[in-house]
Amino acid sequence: MTITVACIGAGNISGRHLNNLREMDDVRIVGVADVALERAQAYATRYGCHAYRDYQEMIEREHPEALWICVPPFVHGEPEAYAVAHKLPFFVEKPLATTWEAAQALSQSVSQSGLITAVGYHWRYLDIVERAQELLQNRPARLALGYWMDSTPPVNWWPKQAQSGGQQVEQTTHIFDLARYLIGDVTTVYGTGSNIDRAAFPDSDIADVSTATLTFRTGAVAQLASTCLLDYPYRIGLHLFGEGLGIELREFRVYIADGPESKQEHLAQGDPFVREARTFLDAVRSGDPSAIRATYAEALKTHRITTLATRSAAEGQALAVEAAQ
Ligand SMILES: NC(=O)c1ccc[n+]([C@@H]2O[C@H](COP(=O)([O-])OP(=O)(O)OC[C@H]3O[C@@H](n4cnc5c(N)ncnc54)[C@H](O)[C@@H]3O)[C@@H](O)[C@H]2O)c1
Repeated sequence: MTITVACIGAGNISGRHLNNLREMDDVRIVGVADVALERAQAYATRYGCHAYRDYQEMIEREHPEALWICVPPFVHGEPEAYAVAHKLPFFVEKPLATTWEAAQALSQSVSQSGLITAVGYHWRYLDIVERAQELLQNRPARLALGYWMDSTPPVNWWPKQAQSGGQQVEQTTHIFDLARYLIGDVTTVYGTGSNIDRAAFPDSDIADVSTATLTFRTGAVAQLASTCLLDYPYRIGLHLFGEGLGIELREFRVYIADGPESKQEHLAQGDPFVREARTFLDAVRSGDPSAIRATYAEALKTHRITTLATRSAAEGQALAVEAAQ
């Protein structure tokens, strides 16, 4: 049986999702909405569906059975609330919002609705992350070192704190999420960060260098560093260290140091973006969300940590996760 889907946002990441959805035999794309109508029209032509400027009109007319929400961070809130009001299961891209308060305000109605939701933390669907998980079961990570050292993405909202939430919230969130996924609950967060005037980005007010020191309930500790000052994706990944075990996860490869002088490299197999979409759609069909690795509620826990890192940097003090208001 075919499942109908619609997408809000016709930008970079929605193109990737729609390309994958188009290849699925049991999926029919019925609409794309974008405030920039010409973008929605270009995607509608490409994916053989209708274009809308207003996503509410799209949902009312097309009655999709599942919704993809792929808008910039500052736009979150209304589309999700609309999906909840219309009992429409949704897949939403990370981050959940620019601030903690905005996502938290929404989370109660999302969880009360019982809707199937999924968030685009696609690293969780990598087979190399599953391999790391297996290895860490007997030798849990005690130390993690993560980094997102990259260029400044070429979308105008990205370097603006009010529109993206900053690099830790918007981008390094994948690494924060992976650390949580592989280690567990975070108990304290100490963030640092600063910015300088950059001629190429006159509107930038985000920290262009930042760090976060985390402690976990297990006793593990982590240091996650971010910068957007480079010209290309220089280094993105997470190192994990346990007794006699070192793991370096990059997005599509893993290095495992396991035993004296043994270092193996494995390339990821399969597309995690396809797997996350397939898992969400199967859950929508069956009504069983148990295979979804990042639901809205789960993603909210990561958003808590990234937003606390930003707040900690502003306040100049470490913050205990449970005590923080
Ligand atoms: N999972 C990943 O690896 C990954 C990769 C890239 C981007 N993302 C996330 O996806 C989100 C979007 O990023 P992007 O790079 O696609 O941005 P983008 O700027 O390329 O696309 C966003 C689109 O949303 C549209 N839009 C804005 N407000 C809207 C509204 N109210 N209704 C309808 N459309 C609206 C914009 O006009 C734009 O076309 C971000 O949160 C980003 O973090 C995730």
